[in-house]
Amino acid sequence: MSQGIITVSYIAASVLFILSLGGLSHQETARRGNMFGIIGMAIAVFATAMSVAVSNYSLLIPAMAVGAVLGLFAAKRVEMTEMPELVAILHSFVGLAATLVGIASFIDPANHFTGVEETIHNVEIFLGVFIGAITFTGSIIAFGKLRGMISGTPLTLPARHWLNLAAIILCLVLGYGFLNGGGVLPLLLMTLIAFVLGVHLVMAIGGADMPVVVSMLNSYSGWAAAATGFMLSNDLLIVTGALVGSSGAILSYIMCRAMNRSFISVILGGFGTGGGGAAADVEGEIIATSVEETAQMLKDADSVIIVPGYGMAVAQAQAVVSAMTKQLRDAGKTVRFGIHPVAGRLPGHMNVLLAEAKVPYDIVLEMDELNDDFPDTDVVLVIGANDIVNPGAQEDPNSPIAGMPVLEVWKAGTVVVSKRSMATGYAGVENPLFFKDNTRMLFGDAKDTVDAIVKSL
Ligand code: TAP
Repeated sequence: MSQGIITVSYIAASVLFILSLGGLSHQETARRGNMFGIIGMAIAVFATAMSVAVSNYSLLIPAMAVGAVLGLFAAKRVEMTEMPELVAILHSFVGLAATLVGIASFIDPANHFTGVEETIHNVEIFLGVFIGAITFTGSIIAFGKLRGMISGTPLTLPARHWLNLAAIILCLVLGYGFLNGGGVLPLLLMTLIAFVLGVHLVMAIGGADMPVVVSMLNSYSGWAAAATGFMLSNDLLIVTGALVGSSGAILSYIMCRAMNRSFISVILGGFGTGGGGAAADVEGEIIATSVEETAQMLKDADSVIIVPGYGMAVAQAQAVVSAMTKQLRDAGKTVRFGIHPVAGRLPGHMNVLLAEAKVPYDIVLEMDELNDDFPDTDVVLVIGANDIVNPGAQEDPNSPIAGMPVLEVWKAGTVVVSKRSMATGYAGVENPLFFKDNTRMLFGDAKDTVDAIVKSL
């Protein structure tokens, strides 16, 4: 394929990737955005495979076939709740690829750079391998933590910040040696240190911050890909890497803001090891309710807000929730959904489930859009949510989730909480909401419970 056609293909793919990101930012256009991304990637892979730089098709085609089969298999099997794990492991592949391409690019006998060009090329290699190696091991640890194979408790070694700093200084010294004709040895030593640094950085971060870490590693994988693009003089890889790098960074920032955490405090880790005093004990009585009582409360209400959380995803209750919403709306009630930015286990988790169950987009609102409306709401139905409706985040400065913005459901007339037991949520903290006078606990699996409400209604 001529260079001109490849350049045009790369520009088309870049534009499609930008359109894809734009589309993915709204529920109504997300499907189209996804399609743009798929077409862009197909063009990118095809044009790259056809470019003059590729000659060994007997290796390339089997490798692509194996990759495609593995990808299809993983994507078909993955549960919605396991999506962050899949994303984490995919980032580790990007990191490993950047590391291997970097080292291969240095030892490539066809490498013909001299003078300033050689220095620039070596800087690209060193940076690409450094970021790639951290992304590789960091993502594997994030995967292990999300899967529960590694404990979610942050590992806080004494003087860990100094250890990290020492590792970075050592890498800088090795970088100096590498750029001054030190050969492949400093590069390999730096790779080993970066592997350890990736493990240590992510081990220090608690389970509750893992989503931010995954999105941060997403950003790193983008920068590693961009560095690889520079190494290989591949413009499309530079553009794609920069898009992934910056969108991952923006998503990390948005998520930090939603949890009221500073980005720096997340990446330095140690959250959840409990600085300050003990969280306050919860006082009060639990009042249980029944399906019939709940159905009656809903019949009597004019305005209802439903707050779904991780439990709705576990119970796969979205379809029955949608059916109940339709019943209530048909009966002339105002029904809206309140979505917390970190409800569930991945960004947009609840939105995806509700969209799948055909809940109209215009009644699915974000936390900021309806947090002021709770005092004027008759009934709030919390379905499998816990941390995101915990008043302790506002009232108890010693709570591990202190300062995290939450949906202020307790301000409504009555709050009905559907969950199976008194178990804590992701952050492992007691929830004073369950003990408030206007809260009723509706115990049982969310799907069975809401199904019974639908029948009762
Ligand atoms: P959680 O606080 O994890 O609470 C979920 C609740 O659902 C649990 O208390 C559980 O109680 C209940 N539940 C589980 N299975 C159920 C079932 N079959 N039927 C009914 N209830 C069920 O969830 P949340 O309120 O959505 O908050 C999300 C938490 O996850 C936050 O702490 C957030 O920081 C964290 N996190 C978020 C993300 C993203 S990006 N969204 C990623 C990782 C972590 P029972 O066991 O008593 O039923």
